[in-house]
Amino acid sequence: MRSLTKLMAVTAVAALAVTGCGRADDTSTSGSGSSASGGSGSGGFAGDSLIGVSLPQKTSENWVLAEQLFKDDLGKAGFKADVQFANGGVGEQQNQIQSMVTKGAKVIVIGAIDGAQLGTQVKAAKDAGATVIAYDRLIKNTDAVDYYVAYDNFKVGVLQGNALLEGMAAKKPSGPYNIELFAGSPDDANAQVFFDGAMSVLKPKIDDGTLKVTSGQTAFNQAVTQGWKAENAQKRMDTLLSASYSSAALDGVLSPNDTLARAIITSVKAAGKPVPVVTGQDSEVESVKSIMAGEQYSTINKDTRNLVAETIKMVQALQKGEKPTVNDDKSYNNGVKVVPANLLVPVIVTKANAKEAYANDPTLSKLTQ
Ligand code: BGC
Repeated sequence: MRSLTKLMAVTAVAALAVTGCGRADDTSTSGSGSSASGGSGSGGFAGDSLIGVSLPQKTSENWVLAEQLFKDDLGKAGFKADVQFANGGVGEQQNQIQSMVTKGAKVIVIGAIDGAQLGTQVKAAKDAGATVIAYDRLIKNTDAVDYYVAYDNFKVGVLQGNALLEGMAAKKPSGPYNIELFAGSPDDANAQVFFDGAMSVLKPKIDDGTLKVTSGQTAFNQAVTQGWKAENAQKRMDTLLSASYSSAALDGVLSPNDTLARAIITSVKAAGKPVPVVTGQDSEVESVKSIMAGEQYSTINKDTRNLVAETIKMVQALQKGEKPTVNDDKSYNNGVKVVPANLLVPVIVTKANAKEAYANDPTLSKLTQ
């Protein structure tokens, strides 16, 4: 599933990101989007066309950052941008996409709330001649999705699983370690992939007795957090603590992102217990502060600037009638087709490498001095 070619390709993307070539602000100087005005012969379209961007609820900071970057940088590249959030849920997102189709958007970029409920809308987009790009989250069970652009979700989970093990080993050299597992929202296609990536590391250690999931809740559907909501994770952690940890010590918690990590830590503190090793994802400001203060153990850097920049590069290629760059044509089977993907490389961050990891980030670098 994870070929050498793919590894080489994603490494090349990472190298671009490190040298700054993938930054969103660079798209303004590439000029390719703003030059054409009349569409191109081989399936391209006018350089000032409408591009729709449909984002989910603001369940983490990355979505909020993406909104601003898409507005600014699609505009700088010469396109008209229609960027919408669907805070009201799936129905609102379906309507927003339908309205982008009606307005004649040439490309529709979608961060799906529920990847399995957009079949009708993406088919309408295709029928109208638009290209559909799934952004960050895969769109499932339809052949009407053309491309996928995201950080490598399986790798995110692997990094989280490894960080959990390393963090616990640093505190207590040998097991058995008592842990609990949290997953994201089951309607988000990423949640299962993050969990599978983490379990590819943790399951063998559960099987050999190094790790003990004291609650016994090891299945994805037992670990999920509906809507990626902090209050749901906090409630579940409260319940787990009172049911399984009145005498046992809790050594670590697999948390799929930063918002949930902080909710888990709040629950543990409220129960008067020592903070265990807790993983995360997204490099949210409050979590980076928590990591620097020695509470949350790890997060993942998935720089939104690079993801938006890669997406805009795909839009620019389509505008010129070219095929966008993809580096993976195996991993993302959506139930109907394997969606060609452009996968970026996520980076694990702990207190030990935070300064280096955020060196190019004007906001986060201030927190690691
Ligand atoms: C994203 C994560 C984010 C989560 C909740 C996922 O689809 O990949 O980065 O933490 O949604 O917003």
